[in-house]
Amino acid sequence: MAGRTRTTKKLAQRIDLNYFKRTYPIPRWKRILSIAAAGLGVAWFGWAGLTGKQSAFNAGPLAQGHAILTNNCSSCHVATGGFGTKVTETACLVCHNAPMHQAKQTFTPACTSCHVEHQGAFRLAATSEASCTQCHSSLKTTDGRTRFAASIASFNSGHPDFDAVRSGHAPDPGTIKLSHQVHLKNDLRGPDGPVQLQCVDCHRPASHTRNAPMAAVNYTTHCASCHPLVFDSRFTEPAPHQETKIVHDYVVRKYTEANQGNIAQRVEEAERLLWQKSCKECHVLTYPAPGTRPEILKSAIPIRWMTHAKFDHEAHQLVTCTECHAQAKTSNNTADVLLPGIATCQKCHSGGRVAADSRCSECHDYHDWSKAKPASSVHAITDFAR
Ligand code: HEC
Ligand code: HEC
Ligand code: HEC
Ligand code: HEC
Ligand code: HEC
Ligand code: HEC
Ligand code: HEC
Ligand code: HEC
Ligand code: HEC
Ligand code: HEC
Repeated sequence: MAGRTRTTKKLAQRIDLNYFKRTYPIPRWKRILSIAAAGLGVAWFGWAGLTGKQSAFNAGPLAQGHAILTNNCSSCHVATGGFGTKVTETACLVCHNAPMHQAKQTFTPACTSCHVEHQGAFRLAATSEASCTQCHSSLKTTDGRTRFAASIASFNSGHPDFDAVRSGHAPDPGTIKLSHQVHLKNDLRGPDGPVQLQCVDCHRPASHTRNAPMAAVNYTTHCASCHPLVFDSRFTEPAPHQETKIVHDYVVRKYTEANQGNIAQRVEEAERLLWQKSCKECHVLTYPAPGTRPEILKSAIPIRWMTHAKFDHEAHQLVTCTECHAQAKTSNNTADVLLPGIATCQKCHSGGRVAADSRCSECHDYHDWSKAKPASSVHAITDFAR
């Protein structure tokens, strides 16, 4: 024990006064790595910002329709085996019916190129104009032909006029001989004196659902009050508005019940009046053979005219009918087509002049829903919602 003398000086000499001035491997790497990690992070954000890749910041909220999948990311993001995930068409088709656009298309864009996810609560189905013009601005088809303009850059540039009003279009196929001009006179004879009919007296949307067409014109609701099928002033009740066979049976029954004799002759006179005056005023009659009872040609009033686009009358409630159907007031012929052409729409739907913009998907479907697969259990959720 005797030889060990510990003076404070000796102890102090053991302390390396340059300890903190020198660098040692572990602290050195710690410092280098922390600077590098922070730098890489900044660089990643910078690169993401420059290239517009949102994922570096936040995937973003899901679209409204998909909000219920917020806790079910894997319904779209399928593991690829390595790191990361992939969103494939197959994942979408587990839940959705999404029939192809056109048999003649030369390629099929990915679902997610049109339906862009993680952009928040707006309608996924409202796809960009570019998603359509990628093909329609210079349309290619598998057989090298198209049925309409091949270069549609926008609704205001290159878009064809509507089929129903293009020159050389087919006439209105309806056979009811109604003159709009006559019926829109300001002193039309009504059952209780002169009236001024309005368009809505004969035409109202069939329902409040989006894009519902106008309800079909109907004799009982729209015509009967002024055009009753009377055939004899002795009977207050008019003949039924039915096939001529049913009308005939009715007339025979009425005279038989009245029992005033001469039934065959009375029936013949009444029917001459009905067929030749009443029915013929509105209908085209055909005779299967000379001397037989006439038949009524199908009325064939179209319910929808523009089957390749969507149109909603209720969204245009603030526009008067004749602003779009200008010819209606002067038309004397059923064969006239009273529909607007594209120039009428462009007055409002051009260059963002109305609230609704004029993207193709506002007015058109993309998927050919007539080819949707029948509802099955996998499609149940979305078929229910359609
Ligand atoms: C309805 C389908 C769907 C759901 C559900 C969904 N995503 Fe996505 N997600 C997408 C699509 C589409 C992309 C774009 C990627 C692409 O085009 O391949 C994407 C991209 C991403 C990206 C960017 C990285 C990449 O893969 O490109 C992240 C991060 C992401 N999603 C996270 C999530 C998270 C977290 C959830 C759950 C809260 C989720 N997603 C749910 C469809 C979905
Ligand atoms: C787990 C089932 C599920 C998966 C997977 C899924 N969806 Fe949906 N999707 C729904 C449901 C539910 C709705 C809401 C009901 C509706 O509108 O049909 C919806 C709505 C939509 C809508 C209409 C919503 C709107 O806001 O316009 C589109 C478009 C759509 N999905 C596309 C896709 C695409 C593209 C994918 C693949 C990336 C996909 N979905 C994957 C279930 C799913
Ligand atoms: C992959 C290419 C491609 C894309 C993308 C595309 N179309 Fe088409 N489209 C076609 C082809 C091909 C035809 C058929 C041409 C023909 O039959 O002459 C067509 C026809 C049409 C028609 C006429 C339909 C008919 O039955 O008369 C409309 C309307 C239409 N497309 C709208 C759209 C809209 C809206 C979008 C975007 C949501 C779109 N298209 C995206 C290739 C495409
Ligand atoms: C007395 C009833 C009646 C009134 C009032 C009436 N319509 Fe009609 N409308 C019809 C009948 C019947 C048809 C079917 C026969 C036809 O095509 O002409 C028709 C057809 C139409 C059509 C589709 C047929 C086509 O060729 O384009 C349009 C559009 C139309 N009417 C617009 C109007 C407008 C606009 C008004 C008011 C200015 C109006 N109608 C007033 C009875 C009426
Ligand atoms: C408010 C009464 C009123 C209603 C409702 C009415 N009409 Fe008329 N209609 C008349 C009168 C009055 C005449 C004769 C007008 C004249 O010759 O000046 C007439 C004439 C006609 C004519 C012969 C002249 C022409 O238009 O070519 C036809 C056809 C006709 N109506 C069909 C119909 C049809 C179809 C309906 C129902 C969709 C209908 N009318 C509804 C009052 C009416
Ligand atoms: C004032 C005009 C008017 C008169 C008069 C009239 N009809 Fe009609 N008729 C219509 C209209 C409008 C329709 C189409 C809408 C409907 O079914 O109510 C129609 C439809 C019909 C139909 C169904 C045909 C189809 O394809 O839609 C028959 C059958 C018919 N009428 C028989 C008759 C007979 C028979 C008479 C004479 C006794 C007669 N109508 C007189 C206006 C008239
Ligand atoms: C902004 C323009 C516009 C206005 C305003 C408008 N229509 Fe139409 N109308 C159309 C177009 C486009 C169609 C073809 C729709 C289709 O086939 O889906 C149409 C179709 C019709 C048809 C044929 C049946 C059908 O639904 O296709 C009738 C009848 C009609 N309109 C009556 C009216 C009446 C009555 C009013 C006023 C209450 C009116 N329209 C206002 C643009 C308009
Ligand atoms: C404001 C509404 C509207 C917009 C926006 C619009 N279209 Fe149309 N488009 C129509 C109507 C209405 C028709 C006539 C449909 C019919 O006759 O059945 C039509 C017809 C067409 C046709 C011809 C179909 C045929 O068979 O004749 C094509 C192709 C088409 N549109 C493509 C497009 C494309 C691509 C865009 C976007 C650049 C677009 N449309 C934007 C309303 C619109
Ligand atoms: C006088 C101006 C005007 C004219 C003309 C007009 N529109 Fe519109 N349209 C509007 C306004 C305003 C809206 C927005 C309504 C809303 O947001 O509810 C609209 C909305 C629409 C929409 C979206 C409707 C929806 O379901 O929300 C379609 C599709 C459309 N118009 C097609 C047409 C077509 C096709 C024509 C020509 C036949 C036409 N419009 C003519 C003013 C007009
Ligand atoms: C070229 C663009 C485009 C592509 C590619 C595309 N869609 Fe669509 N999709 C649309 C447009 C535009 C609509 C709205 C009009 C319609 O119903 O066709 C829509 C509608 C839908 C709807 C119905 C939304 C509703 O109204 O409820 C579903 C679901 C859907 N798409 C799923 C898919 C799936 C799954 C794929 C891939 C297999 C796909 N889409 C590919 C443009 C596209």
